[in-house]
Amino acid sequence: MAEEVLQGLGSEPKFISPKYFYDARGSALFEEITELDEYYLTRTEMGLFDTYLDDMAGSLGEGVCLIEYGSGNSRKIRKLLEAVSPEAYVPVDISNEHLQENARELHADFPALHVYPVCADFSLPVTVPPEVDELTRVGFFPGSSIGNFTPLEARRFLTGVRETVGSGGALLIGVDRKKVVSVLEDAYNDALGVTAAFNLNVLAHINSRLQADFELDGFRHLARYNAEEGCIQMFLESQRDQDVNVAGVTMHFAANERVHTENSYKYDRAEFVELAAGAGFTAEAEWTDEQEWFSIFLLRGN
Ligand code: AVJ
Repeated sequence: MAEEVLQGLGSEPKFISPKYFYDARGSALFEEITELDEYYLTRTEMGLFDTYLDDMAGSLGEGVCLIEYGSGNSRKIRKLLEAVSPEAYVPVDISNEHLQENARELHADFPALHVYPVCADFSLPVTVPPEVDELTRVGFFPGSSIGNFTPLEARRFLTGVRETVGSGGALLIGVDRKKVVSVLEDAYNDALGVTAAFNLNVLAHINSRLQADFELDGFRHLARYNAEEGCIQMFLESQRDQDVNVAGVTMHFAANERVHTENSYKYDRAEFVELAAGAGFTAEAEWTDEQEWFSIFLLRGN
């Protein structure tokens, strides 16, 4: 973490990877975000699962091995496990702690389910255990988590998933759609300031993990839609000329200098279908809300 943070803060422009948002407080703040009026993503996706679960399960059929990328979505995975009744479930997560906890909790409610946790960085192709060889592999990547990847990284990720699930395998993926800019920007500039607290918390996380001395009131939350890139971009803007010590290194922040903390890409239907095609997938089905604000795609490996 020290190396990566120092490298980002030593770059021009400065950046911090969004994966450092998620310490205990950051994860709790993200949970709060998902319940905000302005943050339509989680609620819209959950609505789609509630309405179309049987249809999704029907499309996936029987003899399924469900592979979840990132295992922090227990409400969604439980719904899917109940509807699909897969033979096996492979949660993939970088945190062994999350994996063990997740497996333990699921075992209580799904005693017959075979769970094969894989501790890995899911941005790289994942090796699934040989026990699931005969099953149809179906990846699950909800929440528009794909939005944190640039389109190039997203294509690489999808190519890795395609390799993992094979021809005839599938991916069920939640994607946030392009829409009126004010709706997008409000979702990342909520009135209660929860997203601002979430963004600033990355500095508190760095303070405690890397013995840094960021003053949180020395920075301001900024989120705006970049129309050329097609993404919401979040920044922390330095409120004054200041020096901060990070892991024994002094970093300088000019007044109004921005640290880029997150990209959240949004996709048109056609853009996403094309992205998936470039990774060897065909969009077999799509479930979306009335306003087409969020889509769940079923991609099938060619
Ligand atoms: C978890 C990456 C989907 O981009 O909407 C929410 C993270 N950042 N509010 C998103 C987030 C600020 C979220 N993802």
